[in-house]
Amino acid sequence: MDLFSQIDDQEREEVLRLRRELEEANRLYYVMNQPTLSDREFDEKMRRLQDLEAAHPEWYDANSPTQHVGSDLTVTDSRSSVVGKGFEQVKHRYPMLSLGNTYSRDEIADWLKKLPADAEIVAELKYDGLSIALWYENGTLTKALTRGDGVKGDNVLLNIRTIPTIPHHIDGLPARMELRGEVLLPWDRFEQLNREREAEEEPLFANPRNAASGTLKLQDPKEVARRGLTCYLYYMLGEDLPGRTHYERLEQARRWGFPVSDAIRVCHSIDEVMDFISYWDQKRKELPVATDGIVLKVNSLQQQEELGYTAKNPRWAIAYKFPAEKQLTTLRSISYQVGRTGVVTPVANLDPIRLSGTMVQRATLHNEDFIRQLNIREGDKVWVEKGGEIIPKIVGLADRNDEMSATASLNDELTYRFPTVCPECGTKLVRVEGEAAWRCPNENGCPPQRIGKVLHFVSRKAMNIDGLGEETIALLYEQGLVQNIADLYDLRKEDIARQERLGDKSAENILASLEASKHVPWERVLFALGIRMVGETTAKKIARRFRSIDTLQWATRDELNAIDDVGPQIAENVVAYFQDESNLETLMRLRQSGVQMASTEAEPEALSDKLKGKTIVISGVFRQHSRDEYKAMIEAHGGKNSSSISRKTAFVLAGENMGPEKRKKAEELGIELIDEQRFLEML
Ligand code: IVH
Repeated sequence: MDLFSQIDDQEREEVLRLRRELEEANRLYYVMNQPTLSDREFDEKMRRLQDLEAAHPEWYDANSPTQHVGSDLTVTDSRSSVVGKGFEQVKHRYPMLSLGNTYSRDEIADWLKKLPADAEIVAELKYDGLSIALWYENGTLTKALTRGDGVKGDNVLLNIRTIPTIPHHIDGLPARMELRGEVLLPWDRFEQLNREREAEEEPLFANPRNAASGTLKLQDPKEVARRGLTCYLYYMLGEDLPGRTHYERLEQARRWGFPVSDAIRVCHSIDEVMDFISYWDQKRKELPVATDGIVLKVNSLQQQEELGYTAKNPRWAIAYKFPAEKQLTTLRSISYQVGRTGVVTPVANLDPIRLSGTMVQRATLHNEDFIRQLNIREGDKVWVEKGGEIIPKIVGLADRNDEMSATASLNDELTYRFPTVCPECGTKLVRVEGEAAWRCPNENGCPPQRIGKVLHFVSRKAMNIDGLGEETIALLYEQGLVQNIADLYDLRKEDIARQERLGDKSAENILASLEASKHVPWERVLFALGIRMVGETTAKKIARRFRSIDTLQWATRDELNAIDDVGPQIAENVVAYFQDESNLETLMRLRQSGVQMASTEAEPEALSDKLKGKTIVISGVFRQHSRDEYKAMIEAHGGKNSSSISRKTAFVLAGENMGPEKRKKAEELGIELIDEQRFLEML
């Protein structure tokens, strides 16, 4: 293999990995309200993915997270257990896009320079809550939709009506008007809520945004009212609306009685914009709600229209994000935590400080390299940062200026040693080439890893076994009752009922849920096994190719590698999994318990062959169905979905704001564009 194709292979794997990571991060953020990445990490990964995709247009994928906004739609899984039940899903009249963003003032200046010379800019605060679309029909608030997947959202009207500043009816509004804004939980309400949850031993919300999102998806408007959400509106849409500028419209909305922020300024120069940014970067700390940046919008509606949209963002607006808040404190000691995948993470124990609304006394130090690079040691003053995530980070060291510590640090550098054995099970740690992390390789013997495998197995997206939380599983583990996933199915009622905080009723529910899990389809069982790097999507793809454990068990690296999205590393992990005796024993026991080890579904049934032999490219933003749905429709009718236009393309299924490059290419090759409506009629 030559060097270039090796680099290509690596980049291809990176693209696939980033897509998976961002997809998962989106799901955790929007659906589960449990962010795992800070905004900054997310944005950085997204940028990297955008760059790689730009360098390799041949890898374009309409389903890439770069091509669509994250989804907050309540999830219904195949056994119709739902995260948040019962919201009507409604199509947005206008797709709900997000904004391009940057942390760099230089990029803001570049963006401004590219606009028409006479463009006025409206600068606003970027509120850090969740977006909402309010529909007013003949003056009455008739729907309140979350962003959802950008095409359709959840109607949370009853909950929105509990916000005192949002009018239910106003005389004299345009017949059909939509106002968009941000729903927020103010800082003091957020802290109060977390205090209550702490007392009730419920999991805490990481930040006000997650708390607002969790609150808006409650099925109990009384509880929503009690928590005290608030809202700011920043965008008006519809036909026959007043005003020729964005600013005039916001002013009009304010006069009508809608909650519009005062922190808005019309700017005429880069300097004015920068002043606004600097002012609010400081002043925002005094605001009652969370903000994470500034939004800049071209004021003239005419100019907005001329600038138009990309698939994801308007070209007439951009967000500047503030750097995360930082504080100095003292590092007391370093401890080491073994995660569920065996990664050993150094954790800093700190003198407690207040940061972004919460008290912080532990922070991650990431890995050995990080500690060495910063040359951190106990007693140092360190900078701690907290973005949107639960776990704060050490981001730097205060200057050490006295000579003593400079010498000491030199010695420390020589003597700092990452533990060589696992603090949990004593196994010698290994460092995987190319990775910064030390890992405990004792996958099937190290307690947190064993518990982690069971937790993953019972989780909602895997076997969806209710009633077994982290604490219960840890207890069952300690008592020797559940040492691995197969033991779950040997549990007896009395084993469970005698655990603290459980009883007969819970024991019965858990057993019923275990029983029900025997019907979970093979693809999810495969995901539940927790083979390293085999996530939900990968498991699905593997399960479609290898339709039972008996065939998968003998799969070769090459066969696995040939599956879409499966690279050499994943293939290796799968093969290694089946070479481990203890895994084979676990699988045998699962099978004996009645867990599905093969696909029971017939091959997916074709609905028609109307699109047989046709290769179709999807491009743009759609109103009636999501891209994934269109992709599935094409396949169900015998067609093939492709990412790039060529002579072989039968037609382009074209949504709004189709990319200009694609449009040009289609025109050049004389390929027909078919819109959503016509496509649906065709089928
Ligand atoms: S304008 C087409 N203005 O930031 C323009 N958005 O990533 C739509 N946000 O989804 C957005 N404050 O939830 C706009 N003053 C503001 C905002 C704002 C917060 C949120 C909004 C949007 C996200 C963009």
